[in-house]
Amino acid sequence: MKVAILKETRDGEPRVAATPETVKKIKALGPEVVVQAGAGSDSYFSDADYEAAGAKIVGDAKAALADAELVLKVLRPTADELGQMKAGTMVAAIMNPHVDGDTVQAAASAKVNAFAMEFMPRITRAQSMDVLSSQSNLAGYKAVIDGCAEFHRAFPMMMTAAGTIPAARVFVMGVGVAGLQAIATARRLGAIVTATDVRAATKEQVESLGANFIMVEDDEGADAETAGGYAKEMSDEYKAKQAELIAGHIGKQDIVITTALIPGRPAPVLVTEDHLKSMKPGSIIVDLAVEAGGNCPLSKAGELVEAHGVKLMGYLNVPGRLSYDASSLYARNLLNFISLLIDKESGELAIDWEDEIVTGTCLTRDGQVIHPALTGK
Ligand code: NAI
Repeated sequence: MKVAILKETRDGEPRVAATPETVKKIKALGPEVVVQAGAGSDSYFSDADYEAAGAKIVGDAKAALADAELVLKVLRPTADELGQMKAGTMVAAIMNPHVDGDTVQAAASAKVNAFAMEFMPRITRAQSMDVLSSQSNLAGYKAVIDGCAEFHRAFPMMMTAAGTIPAARVFVMGVGVAGLQAIATARRLGAIVTATDVRAATKEQVESLGANFIMVEDDEGADAETAGGYAKEMSDEYKAKQAELIAGHIGKQDIVITTALIPGRPAPVLVTEDHLKSMKPGSIIVDLAVEAGGNCPLSKAGELVEAHGVKLMGYLNVPGRLSYDASSLYARNLLNFISLLIDKESGELAIDWEDEIVTGTCLTRDGQVIHPALTGK
């Protein structure tokens, strides 16, 4: 069997789906690995390192895809790439099917079996394959570093002969994987950190990191979590109470990191224009939810903008800004996933189509779109 690793071409994506380390481990499972020249260059992995790990380097995507049975990618394949895959090829990537349904349809038409890594079920067995966790963790860290770099004051309290500098105040909104790492990073830098979420279960996690938790005191909070561990969309009444809670808190904050997401839906609006107006000049909002519409309606995807004296950072692909680490973790997620799908004796694909990890991630099979989140069945 041949496994192909392509150079990402969408949106200037710097990450790569395999590293020299994972190439070696994929080869140990049996398959041959073909890497498109330059695939790892934006993540600082050289062709020579892939070659030393046992990969064959080829000049373009067409050559990499010829006869490949398994294609590993970061972002969903382009129409060109799909056109170069033979029927029955399996592709594992971040497919973004709710935003780009056309690519899912095109994969089905090409009889390519596409697997969405971001649909990985949140079960213990799949933790090492969970790309949302591995990438969000890095995004949470980088959001604080980005905010810190733009901030006009220091983070830690400093007692000097010339006087005392107070610690910066960081407010983290949404405490999933990214939010927890943002809290930990801001604390390490010496900030006073507060955090909020709709899921009551997060209170303990926030406090264990040395931050203070604030939340709407409401029965709805006890029921805000889905069986998968994600947040639900809250009622209008809850949202009004939450806006009031934030209004009383945000004016005293220096840096706000927003990370709140609801799977398959636009990100909830948490910071309104009135909230912004109450903030001190030079305060910063890092909106990690900007790709899903943003937690602040004034943040702009891919830009650093200023409104009412507050800087809003809406960087895209924040994990990609740490491309080496993001690629390394993503590649290991993929390695763990495909290890499940490859027969150890023959080194060939041997997919158990009933496995929860397979049914949870498989979008298209044998020419059909089959995932329940897309078919509604
Ligand atoms: P996410 O990226 O979907 O959302 C980020 C955070 O925003 C969540 O904590 C969510 O509750 C919060 N949020 C949503 N709407 C909000 C609102 N209106 N106001 C305030 N906060 C809001 O979440 P993520 O990071 O994917 O984590 C979700 C859960 O899954 C967490 O409990 C996490 O610990 C758990 N998890 C479990 C894993 C496993 O068991 N394998 C692996 C990774 C995460």
